[in-house]
Amino acid sequence: MTRRQGLSASLKLSARLKLTVSYAGFLLVAGAVLLAVVWVFLLRYVPDSPQGLLGVSPNRYLLVRTFIPAAAQAMMFLLVFGLVGGWVLAGRMLAPLTRIADAARTVTNGSLSHRIRMEGPEDEFRELADVFDTMLERLESHVAEQQRFAANASHELRTPLAISQALLDVARDDPAQNGDELVERLHTVNARAIDLTEALLLLSRADRRTFTRESVDLSLAAEEAAETLLPLAEQRGISLVVTGGTTRAVGSAALVLRMVTNLVQNAVVHNLPTGGTVTVHTESQHDASVLRVENTGRPLPPELVPVLTEPFQRGTDRARTDEHAGVGLGLAIVHSIVRAHDGTLDLAPRPTGGLVVTIRLPGGHRAPAAGRAR
Ligand SMILES: Nc1ncnc2c1ncn2[C@@H]1O[C@H](COP(=O)(O)OP(=O)(O)OP(=O)(O)O)[C@@H](O)[C@H]1O
Ligand SMILES: [Mg+2]
Repeated sequence: MTRRQGLSASLKLSARLKLTVSYAGFLLVAGAVLLAVVWVFLLRYVPDSPQGLLGVSPNRYLLVRTFIPAAAQAMMFLLVFGLVGGWVLAGRMLAPLTRIADAARTVTNGSLSHRIRMEGPEDEFRELADVFDTMLERLESHVAEQQRFAANASHELRTPLAISQALLDVARDDPAQNGDELVERLHTVNARAIDLTEALLLLSRADRRTFTRESVDLSLAAEEAAETLLPLAEQRGISLVVTGGTTRAVGSAALVLRMVTNLVQNAVVHNLPTGGTVTVHTESQHDASVLRVENTGRPLPPELVPVLTEPFQRGTDRARTDEHAGVGLGLAIVHSIVRAHDGTLDLAPRPTGGLVVTIRLPGGHRAPAAGRAR
């Protein structure tokens, strides 16, 4: 038995002992009160005559002699009954706690798939066990998500390194090869690895919420993103329009710009091969600042849409050229930026193809909160 197990066993024992002693104690007090009442009652009905030995009547003497031993026996019986009964009852009461403690111990040893699944009536113990199970479920899926993320990130980072390695191997085996072309290809592969690493860093930075908050105008961010991506849109024959007016949110200007840029880039890249449109709209609605990016494109399978925000999740879009083959982090970054700003992200496929992405951020009409975020 480890020290901790021993400790928990002794704690359990002391809780059981305490309950047992309390139970027996209550029983004894109740018994004593009952006997006292009987004693008083008997005294009233046994006449007290002054002729007795030492001033005590023979009747009363007889009463004392018969009642006291019987009362003592009854108290002894109550004590034994209280201790045994209390021990058994306390054991039954504490049994669910033992199961919960066992489950916690299993989890501490690394098995997150364990569940208590307590059956029986809906009492406080059952509630505690259910809460524990729900917590384990969340924890398990969170850990699985993190593991998936790490595996995917490593895989994606390995790809450009493996390509560089292959290019270098070929160059070494064939010294006559054109060096300029090799350098150019290595440069492209390296740039892609840097982009990926930066995206991963950005994702973790947004998730940590460590950025200074200021008042940000979404319409300005939309204009800036559109300006940056206009050459790409023109190159693909896509019309890009920004509508709506000033609407303020509280947050990081750099992260908000990155969020809008990712959305507009997606809207351009995952659009129709020719003649597509992209509309970026900003407006204030009640207390929220709304940004909507809508684009034409191929119809998206509805079951795919909710998972697009997961890291490394790419659609079935095969029309992309290599130059814009993404890693699937764009929407994951948008999602974590939205979360860090306490906003909501909504993806809806358009019936005729393409996507409408709506972001709502808490309005920044009030004075921006000073200092750092949570
Ligand atoms: N506006 C859009 N219209 C249609 N499909 C979209 C749109 N935005 C995203 N998608 C789909 O969602 C997938 C995930 O998007 P996400 O931005 O996360 O990754 P990506 O664009 O493939 O790569 P990158 O990491 O370079 O952004 C895309 O591969 C695409 O299939
Ligand atoms: Mg993208």
